[in-house]
Amino acid sequence: MSIAEGQRLDPHAAQAERLLGLLGEYAARPLEEGQALPGEMYTSPAIYELELERIFRRDWLFVGRGDEIPDPGDWLSATIGDEPIMVVRGEDREIRALSRVCPHRFMDVLADGSSGDHGHRDSFVCPYHSWAFGLDGRMSGAPMMSRSKRFEREHDAYCLSSFKTEVWNGFVFVNLDSDAEPLASRLGEIEEITADYDLADWVQVDRVDWPESPANWKLVMDNGRECYHHQGAHKDTLEPLWPSNMVDADTTDSKYWYYQRMFVSPEMAVGQEDGHLQHPLVLPAFEGLSAFDRSQYLLIGIYPSMFFACGPDMLITGKWLPTGPASHKFELGICVHKSHADDPELKEKLAESVQWAYDLQVEDSRMITGIQSMLESRHAQRGGALQYPLERPMWQFQQYLAHRLLGSGGPADGGA
Ligand code: FES
Ligand SMILES: [Fe+2]
Repeated sequence: MSIAEGQRLDPHAAQAERLLGLLGEYAARPLEEGQALPGEMYTSPAIYELELERIFRRDWLFVGRGDEIPDPGDWLSATIGDEPIMVVRGEDREIRALSRVCPHRFMDVLADGSSGDHGHRDSFVCPYHSWAFGLDGRMSGAPMMSRSKRFEREHDAYCLSSFKTEVWNGFVFVNLDSDAEPLASRLGEIEEITADYDLADWVQVDRVDWPESPANWKLVMDNGRECYHHQGAHKDTLEPLWPSNMVDADTTDSKYWYYQRMFVSPEMAVGQEDGHLQHPLVLPAFEGLSAFDRSQYLLIGIYPSMFFACGPDMLITGKWLPTGPASHKFELGICVHKSHADDPELKEKLAESVQWAYDLQVEDSRMITGIQSMLESRHAQRGGALQYPLERPMWQFQQYLAHRLLGSGGPADGGA
């Protein structure tokens, strides 16, 4: 049997081809005809491989806030698909994304017995044979290598590989593709919408670091993007504050990002100003905001795998990264404006909000893992109609996926 024949008979390849055909078809429909993707799209190993290749190795991915690593030597780590990286603040205060793979025999240069995904180092010394690297990834020493002619000859090439990094309003994005187009040009319109919030001046003060969960990354992203489920999964938590039927999700046509406004309910509002209900506060509202801004949380998601929600007194960030075809890692960041960051009572003031975010995550997690456990069923193969307009971000995400996986993007192709 020839390889070509073998590929034709490969059931995974045939399944992926069929699913991609369906994705292209769904992505090209108008929203009124929108339909959820079939369960196989969230379980297929071949689709996951393609996503690693065309999304996670080629697109801009949110890895954290720059304020999480304020000083030279501060680092945070992440794994993008199968690529272990660290994001480091250099002596020159620049933020760089570096590989954690030692160029000698591939040890993780951070695996020295300390745990956690944040830390501080003056340099990175590989725990295996002590090759050392500066904060910019350049080699600074390698013991007992002077008799290796190869080492002497190749010395300058031995460094920690670096990846493209862009800091947009304090959000750090990394791209594994050295030929990637810059990110910022895609985000001009978000810049306008969020201009009053001074996003670069917020600092992360707490986080919910959720353990690895058994669900496909797209499933959890879909969940994080739509507010239709407030009245279902969150009927006692989110729905009383941000009712589904008060969410404005009919916004942009972009295939790179979406936004929606989650308005406070009349029951939870703390008065009215200029005709706008006012959102309750934990901290004093940020000064530059209008009465309209103070009536809501403005939720913005940048595909493929992040969102942030701007409230009158808080900024919440969400980061998801896949760890396999049916697993992902999630982290929620809670940020306040830098003028409140030194408040000695901040921890107590935010405690209830952090607990609330944790409780919401418990509710979401129950839904997501529940869905994943249904996906092998033959009855999970034809998705239902999308709710118009609250599931619009899922429809836009289909266009993003089609754009990345197929090179086409439905109605929004060519859009911002
Ligand atoms: S593997 Fe890092 S120094 Fe040998
Ligand atoms: Fe949710």
